[in-house]
Parts: sequence; C-alpha cells; structure tokens
Amino acid sequence: MGGRCSLCIRDGRIAATCVGGAEIDFSASPFKVLALPAPADVHVHLREPGFEYKETIATGTAAAAAGGFTDVCAMPNLRPVPDSPETLRPQLDAMASSARIRVHPYGAITKGEAGRELADMAALAPYVVAFSDDGKGLQDEGIAREAFAAVRETGKPLAAHCEVEPLVPRGGCVHDGAFARAHRLTGIPSSSEWKMVERDLGIVRDTGVRYHVCHVSTKESVALVRAAKRDGLPVTCETAPHYLILSDGDLADEGRFKMNPPVRGAADRDALLEGIADGTIDCIATDHAPHSLDEKGRGLAGSAFGIVGLETSLPLCATILVKRGILSWAQLADRMSTRPRGIFGLPSAGLSAGSGANAVFVAVGVDDIVDPGKFQSKGRATPFAGWAVAARIALTLIDGRPAFDNLASIGVRSPFTKQ
Ligand code: DOR
Repeated sequence: MGGRCSLCIRDGRIAATCVGGAEIDFSASPFKVLALPAPADVHVHLREPGFEYKETIATGTAAAAAGGFTDVCAMPNLRPVPDSPETLRPQLDAMASSARIRVHPYGAITKGEAGRELADMAALAPYVVAFSDDGKGLQDEGIAREAFAAVRETGKPLAAHCEVEPLVPRGGCVHDGAFARAHRLTGIPSSSEWKMVERDLGIVRDTGVRYHVCHVSTKESVALVRAAKRDGLPVTCETAPHYLILSDGDLADEGRFKMNPPVRGAADRDALLEGIADGTIDCIATDHAPHSLDEKGRGLAGSAFGIVGLETSLPLCATILVKRGILSWAQLADRMSTRPRGIFGLPSAGLSAGSGANAVFVAVGVDDIVDPGKFQSKGRATPFAGWAVAARIALTLIDGRPAFDNLASIGVRSPFTKQ
C-alpha cells in the first residue's frame, strides 16, 4: 500500500501518461477508492412530461449522476403516455435540453397504458430502448399475446409489470403478511405478482419475445424465472435494493415504506438474495418513483406508491450486499452495470485504457448517513433515511466527462473544477 495512485483523462479517455490531461491523485484521500463500470438503471420514473411537480428530467438525471449512473431507462407512465412518435416527442425534447446523463425512454405497450389497444410499437421502436406498461399489468391475456408478438417483431425487450389486479383487494397497501395483520392493513398477496409471471412465461414460450420481469419481489417469481432460464427461454429480470434489504418486519406506518410491489416477507427477501447471488436475477434497478411530500405524507394506507432510490442504490448495495459477502464487487458491477447494459443494448461501461470512460469512483470505509434532505431528486421518500452507509460516490464519469464531481468530499483535488 501507499505510494501514488493517480488517473489521467485526456480527451475523455484514460491515458497512460498525463501530458495535457486531467490528473486525479487518489492517494490524497484517506479512503480506499474503487473504480467500477458505471451502473445503468433500467427502471426509473423521471415524471417529465406531465408530473414535473414530482420530478423533472433535470432533477432526476442529477440524482442519477449523484448515484453513480450514466444511463437510465425512463418508464412511460407520463402525460402524454409515449405510445406513438408524436406523444414521445415532448420527452425527447426535454431530454435534449436538460438531461445530465443519457436517458433511454421506454415506449408504452398499449395506448395510454390502458391495456386495451396496442401502441404504435413499430413506429416507436427506433426511438425507444424497450416497451413497458409499467405501473400496470396487461390484464387481458388476448391483448398480452398480441402485444408480445408485436414487441417480438421490434426485436426489443418487453419489460413486464406483473400484477393481476383482481387478486389485489381494494386498499391493499403492504404485503399480505404478519405486518398487515398486526396493523390491520389490507394486504397485497404474492400471487398477484407471480401468477402473471407464470402466465407470461407461457406466452414467451409461444412467441419468443425477449421478456424482462420488472421489480421481482416474491420467492415464487424467483423460482419461476430460474426454471424458465433452465428451459432456455429468453427471460431476464430485475429486483430493487429495498426488496433485497428489507422485509415486512422492517416497516413502519409511514408513506416512505409504501411501494408497488410491496416489500414482502423474510423468506421472499432471502430467495431474492439467493437469486441475485446465483444470477437468476440479472439486474439491480431502483424503480426510482418520486412523489411530492404531500403525496407521501399520508401513512401506508393513504400515500402514493413509490420511493426514490437513485442516490442510495450503490452505497446501500456496496454496504449491505458486498460487505456482508452476498456479492463480490465484480458481481455487483455485473448486476448493476454489465448485465443491464447487455440486456437493453445500452452503451458499454468501464475504465480500460484507451476507452471512453463511463465509470464511477466509490470511496469505501466512509461513515455516511442517508439524508434525504441532501438529495438532488425532488422526491424525499426513502425507507433508508438515517441508515449508515460505508460507500460514497466520489466521481461519475460519462464519456470521460464529470457528470457528478464529489472529489473534494474525499480530500482529492478535482482537475475538472477551477480552484
Ligand atoms: O411503487 C410504484 N411506483 N410502483 C409502480 O409500479 C409505479 C411507480 C410510480 O410510477 O410511482
């Protein structure tokens, strides 16, 4: 240990020598600093156009950069819903004027995400990363079959929000388990998720569409995906940090613990940990879903579904999954960067000499506390407020340029800011 450890960036690329480049001397920091391929989040809600009071492309992508991300895939539950090139246009315009990192929009599967008529997916395909009706499951099996076949034609993945609505009782707000019973809250059963995963896998078998399950939360879904992969079906899936870290035993009656699907029981969490470790679960995505303070301030029964995650995902996963030995750093980079990029065809990331650097530098061994007051996101609702994290994002590079520069906080002089 000891000695000098510096990195040189010239023209956006890592250079072997530093003549005329920007030099970052990491040995000045008291912390160990790791360089990882920049994570990509395949499931975020940026809320623009239509719900700018919750988040904008400017604030959401600033949050993403602060969380180490260079690429995010933005869900289509917007106003207007991007179900044609015309209705996608306002989002593309906002991205062009205010995105801090790369945003890859999803196109809707059905018109207005109403689940009745297919969107103009062939016309949308050149502009979108994949198709999803996130927030809503495709209830009608006939429409789902048509949709899967149409998405198959585009060659893009179909990202499925799996939720059988008739199985969710009115007012369902938390997992149908011990916490719901103890607090007399209406529960959302696991079957509302896995029964749609099961139905969809049958349609995947028939259509061959590239099928990606969004925010997997139940042990049954993990088992179904594991078996489908074993059968060679073109299936991938994601989960989110809160499903890997929490169970319903950790809930309190506050809006910041409410999301859809809900955090499930301890056996589900353990199955998800097994799935992320053995690779059944391909990606860790955040499902970053900001809402206003008012919308999240009405307890579990009355608040909107959704929590923010972009600024806490990597520090939490580094602290809980890596420190506890569930994933190695290499596996974490695989699930947060390499695999999501591969599945969704996003720009590749890394720091190898001579390549355009899409990388995040993480200081480890820090004693930080998650403080929603410091978020760049407009959303503040996180179940992890006040949690201790041992990793801090020090620098996010996108194509060799700083998207987020926090080097001063770890005692390193930044070559990007004027002193
Ligand atoms: O909690 C959630 N919030 N789950 C979803 O599926 C949608 C999301 C949102 O858009 O707020």
